[in-house]
Amino acid sequence: MKNISGLLITKNSFSKRIIDIKIKNETIYELVNLFKNFDLTAIEYKPFTRFTVAKYLDDLTYNRLSKYLNDILRDRMTGCFTIKLEKITNETDDIFLVKLSTAIAHLIGIPNYDSMTEKFYARFTIKHQDKSDSYLRKAYTNLDLHTDGTYVKEITDWLMMTKIEEKNAKGGESVMLHLDDWEHCKELYNDPTGRENFTWSSPKSKNVDYKIEHPVFFKDDNGLPQISYIDQFPKPKNMKQGQFLQKLSDYLEASKNKVITKLPVGSTIVANNSFWLHGRTAFLKNQKLLRELLRIRGKFI
Ligand SMILES: [Fe+2]
Repeated sequence: MKNISGLLITKNSFSKRIIDIKIKNETIYELVNLFKNFDLTAIEYKPFTRFTVAKYLDDLTYNRLSKYLNDILRDRMTGCFTIKLEKITNETDDIFLVKLSTAIAHLIGIPNYDSMTEKFYARFTIKHQDKSDSYLRKAYTNLDLHTDGTYVKEITDWLMMTKIEEKNAKGGESVMLHLDDWEHCKELYNDPTGRENFTWSSPKSKNVDYKIEHPVFFKDDNGLPQISYIDQFPKPKNMKQGQFLQKLSDYLEASKNKVITKLPVGSTIVANNSFWLHGRTAFLKNQKLLRELLRIRGKFI
């Protein structure tokens, strides 16, 4: 594996396609101090400050981390990495994690505007009780395999999730599936319905007031399949499209090659959004359940 100063890099134990990067304590210590130069308001109000915190992180690795992260994400064989902290302390709190996630995101590209929170990132909680209008916060339901950004005009090349806090959580594991590991990829990709335009729109909480049209499957520059799909947002135009989506959903969920992992608090997962699907298993019922996540989606530069 790659050897980069300040980091410990290993292959994920569940998937050879996921690279695990651990930030060593001495690097965390330096980041904590450097990040104190800017408060969250500066990060939120001044887009250039986001690049400054990213540069702090890259400089600590002699500018090798940015190239490495981009290589992983663009490589069809991998396309996914996790970043964990060697040790969680009082100083690696939620504010630190927002800054760290901002830094990682700006080494990869530019975040998209998140309409749900009207910022470049979104923090949201999953609790026992929920009255929202999407599966995102439904703790006791599977969040089925999907990609992000299916209903917005912006390109979503990658997505990042950071676990900020977690209490009384059993279940709720991260589920990942690489298109090339999916048993039915060829069959569904070669079905002409998958290349037809579907209509995509989102529920009220997403704050996106338009509909868009695009197919489920695309072809990349090397002729390999890419996918843009989530179960809740495409509106089938006819029986044929409805049946296609049902089959797609059933075959994705039935895959035996899903990678199911539990991510610790303070960890981040980033995946290429064109050939990795992601989801979450249901939580076990607990009145005091709490998980807080941060998400950033964006495009490559
Ligand atoms: Fe998602």
